[in-house]
Amino acid sequence: MTLTAPAQGEGVPLPGWTELLRRSPLEELLPTASRGDIISFALGLPAPQLFPVRDCAAAAARVLRAQGQASLQYGPPPPSLKRHVVRLMGSRGVECGEGQVFLTAGAQQGLSLLARLLLGPRGQVLTEELVYTGLQQAVAPYRPRTLTVPTDPETGMDVGAAEALLAGGARPAFLYAVTDGHNPLGVSMSLEKRRRLAGLARRHRVPVVEDDAYGFLHYDEEMLPPLRAFEAEWVFYVGTFSKILVPGFRAGWLVAPPSLAPALGSLKESSDINTATFAQHTVAAYLDAGRLPAHLRALRREYRARRDAMLRALAEHFPRGAAWRSPRSGFFIWVELPGEVNLDEVLRDAIETERVAFVPGRSFSADARPRAARSMRLNFSNCTPERIAEGIARLGRVLRRH
Ligand SMILES: Cc1ncc(COP(=O)(O)O)c(C=O)c1O
Repeated sequence: MTLTAPAQGEGVPLPGWTELLRRSPLEELLPTASRGDIISFALGLPAPQLFPVRDCAAAAARVLRAQGQASLQYGPPPPSLKRHVVRLMGSRGVECGEGQVFLTAGAQQGLSLLARLLLGPRGQVLTEELVYTGLQQAVAPYRPRTLTVPTDPETGMDVGAAEALLAGGARPAFLYAVTDGHNPLGVSMSLEKRRRLAGLARRHRVPVVEDDAYGFLHYDEEMLPPLRAFEAEWVFYVGTFSKILVPGFRAGWLVAPPSLAPALGSLKESSDINTATFAQHTVAAYLDAGRLPAHLRALRREYRARRDAMLRALAEHFPRGAAWRSPRSGFFIWVELPGEVNLDEVLRDAIETERVAFVPGRSFSADARPRAARSMRLNFSNCTPERIAEGIARLGRVLRRH
């Protein structure tokens, strides 16, 4: 795993496992990438211009008017929020009940709680070779032995390789999958692989943690159902309002067997007592007003335009031999460059001379893969199409110099 910069203070005696607590490379890039003079394709931030600020303000005002202090007190989430999540899951092709919904402070907390629940010390985790840094952080305290499988750029995770590992006797505590709009690769898993992977989980009785942070943001007409639609017992679904509403509410959910709820509840209580009540009431009030479907349509339209602007600019400005694909969901395009190139030097040069940022692919590598070393992750959600065109032209100039 490639997290950098120890988080430890000097001289304070800490147990050995804390050596693995690292800030992610993305956190380290945040101060630079947030500078106003930088065009940043580095982080996975949604477009702030698309936040429904007025509707959120109206929802917050309604909550305060109707519930006053109660909405600011410690307390359980509003019951209507689970109802809304059940309906949302229905729109993704998943049948579930409120008893299977567990509310969290965002997808990251969902991943973290599931890692704590499922993974004993030195347990095994099965992931793809390139994996979201937040998952790496969630499992790091348990020093897991990580089994990895490759990812096909067109169809997603190599389910055959996962099957071979399980058939060979591997029993990971869980398998981690991002079915739609993979972070960092942008790929969405084919329908056939979704069915196979769900069947595999059932047959081998291995939980799959399905991270669906981007599943609602699909840019084709056809939306493929998540793994959870094919398997209710062994797929633990992780959802979030961060990308479809605003990340600042820190509101997300799990869909998991009700038998896990007491343990999840106790783990969550030990970490944050309860998700910010006011935020959850406000999300519920926003959803009560019925504006989310129209908002989602607007998000898909704008993000599709940003994706297409990046694809056009890449074709115009990136060197011959560079390869990428058009993602059907999510926020990212993964670019593989031809030949040897030191992307740390490219990044330094890009920031210093052209004021443009990206994330080198090796940041996501569970082990140092040569293909990741000459790849970059580009985010297209956070810049306007005009800034994307300008930023990719700048990055193309830097790459030609290297
Ligand atoms: C794949 C993936 N999972 C989870 C998260 C975390 O989402 P949240 O803001 O809901 O914690 C992100 C955020 O970028 C992500 O890309």
